[in-house]
Amino acid sequence: MGSGIAQAAAVAGFAVVVRDVSEPALRRGEAAVRSSLDRLVAKEKLGTAARETALTRLSWTSELATLADCGLVIEAIPEDTALKRALWQELDGRCPPATIFASNTSSLSITELAAATGRPDRFIGLHFFNPVPLMPLVEVVRGLTTSAETFDAALAFVRRLGKEPIVARDRSGFIVNRLLVPYLLDAVRALEEGTGSVADIDRGMQLGCGHPMGPLMLLDLVGLDTTLSIGEILFQEYREARFAPPGLLRRMVAAGFHGRKSGRGFYDYTAEPPRPSDLTL
Ligand code: 3HC
Repeated sequence: MGSGIAQAAAVAGFAVVVRDVSEPALRRGEAAVRSSLDRLVAKEKLGTAARETALTRLSWTSELATLADCGLVIEAIPEDTALKRALWQELDGRCPPATIFASNTSSLSITELAAATGRPDRFIGLHFFNPVPLMPLVEVVRGLTTSAETFDAALAFVRRLGKEPIVARDRSGFIVNRLLVPYLLDAVRALEEGTGSVADIDRGMQLGCGHPMGPLMLLDLVGLDTTLSIGEILFQEYREARFAPPGLLRRMVAAGFHGRKSGRGFYDYTAEPPRPSDLTL
């Protein structure tokens, strides 16, 4: 999601520094932005000049120190509290006090992440949706300590991106994932129980309910590993069976079927067009 957020900010006119831990990850991110911008140009949603200007606004680095001059830092690393808190602590020491910190977490507590820094009043949740360049929504999440000024600045930033903010309380999953994740997990349960095939479960929700993609294809887009982490965090908070990740999801993640990004999930993306994966259930 990091490259998608960077792209949206660059297209909106911001100078963006993208930091990742490894050079190969940076190259993948850069390639994803180029391909996404090309698709927007092909669909006539963006002009070629705007594409070129957006690309010049992006710089790519593996050095955390390069973020020291940024007015806003948005973190989109894996859903792991310890990992995120350690990163924020380090950034807190490098960025000036006025810099606003925002986490793209989908399920972790904003208040808990903010407490890892010396600026809990300038810490907020900005939760984007996949694929970021296309989805208009951003959930703006105020932690217990987020100041009114930080909240106003975050809302203004989201609007400058041309996206629509909604305001959510700091409860695990916020608004969208609290509703979406039990539905996605239930689709996996339906498949596991033999209620329908991969193709029929997806076609059912597309053709019967007008969803743009079925739940299993959406799981592949979001990432099976990501959804597993979110389900575990939601279950920890609410202790309700509907949030508990089903065994099949766990086994698929263990087998390396992480969805689109790994080439295989409920669908096999090495085939053109992608077809349902051959799974022994
Ligand atoms: N940049 C990036 N990805 C793009 C893109 C662009 N400019 N244009 C299309 N895509 C992606 C799609 O994922 C898909 O991949 P593929 O073609 O490479 O296989 C493809 O491109 C679909 O292309 P289409 O041109 O056919 O797609 P549409 O433009 O008609 O719609 C869609 C694509 C907007 C993704 C639509 O299917 C949709 O709305 N799907 C539901 C998405 C959704 O529910 N997202 C929320 C997920 S939850 C979340 O993110 C929260 C997190 O915390 C879990």
